[in-house]
Amino acid sequence: MSVSTKPIYNFNNRTAVVTGAGGGMGKEICLALESYGAQIYAIDLKEQPIEYENKQITYFQEDITNYKFIDTLFDKAYNETGRLDYLANVAGVLLFDQDKSLVDIDMDVYDRVMDINLKASMYMTRKAIPLMLKTGSGSMVHFSSVQAYRGDPLPQDAYSQSKAAVLNLSKSIAMQFAKDNIRSNTIVPGMTMTPLQKRWENDNDSKDKMAEYIPLKRLGTPADMADGVLFLLSEASSFITGTELIIDGGILLH
Ligand SMILES: NC(=O)c1ccc[n+]([C@@H]2O[C@H](COP(=O)([O-])OP(=O)(O)OC[C@H]3O[C@@H](n4cnc5c(N)ncnc54)[C@H](O)[C@@H]3O)[C@@H](O)[C@H]2O)c1
Repeated sequence: MSVSTKPIYNFNNRTAVVTGAGGGMGKEICLALESYGAQIYAIDLKEQPIEYENKQITYFQEDITNYKFIDTLFDKAYNETGRLDYLANVAGVLLFDQDKSLVDIDMDVYDRVMDINLKASMYMTRKAIPLMLKTGSGSMVHFSSVQAYRGDPLPQDAYSQSKAAVLNLSKSIAMQFAKDNIRSNTIVPGMTMTPLQKRWENDNDSKDKMAEYIPLKRLGTPADMADGVLFLLSEASSFITGTELIIDGGILLH
């Protein structure tokens, strides 16, 4: 008999909204939450992942900056299940070829990155809070990046600034609603193999160099991030709010 070393969570009869659910991390997070019993309302621009078939996952192929639709999504989640327990703001974009120094960046590109990475997370949070208040508790995670903490000689200023702002979005909400048993924390991923990093797909050299630079000598995986999300949404972290869980293999130690 094999003994599982994974912690056991119980998300039975709990409702979660997850953005970026068609992406590398979002998909892993939805499947992990669902496997422990959660009912998921998921959104992404991409087509529904095949792995969601026959799962408790209601999937919407939509844009998270379409706020009218976001209203509908939260109404549906709450009306169908009578509660909202969790929010995972996972969706994000890094526009490699267009995101640059603030001195040079096209303002429309800057606005688009802010709209997706920051403003949509803010709107999702704003919609979630009243429903979590009605439910009597809640826990949420937002996705930042190690880029939020550092300058960069090859800047992607829109991305870095949006991800730094997410840290404060989470802290402010944590402070405002702790008295209502609503927790808010941020996951800070390091370099992780997902479609967002598709530049590495056929470039083993750069990938290996990056892995070598990371103290734990490997890139992150979506499962590394899902493990952090499960912990921060679950009761196992019931005394943790307004902080960050950095999951980066130690890269920020440099
Ligand atoms: N992969 C990394 O190395 C890394 C590092 C640090 C932070 N992050 C962050 O982690 C989060 C998850 O990223 P990932 O690596 O899984 O990338 P990913 O590209 O696989 O997933 C992101 C998902 O967001 C979706 N999305 C983007 N804009 C959207 C919109 N307007 N409406 C709906 N969906 C939209 C995309 O379609 C995509 O499926 C992101 O916020 C990202 O910035 C990733």
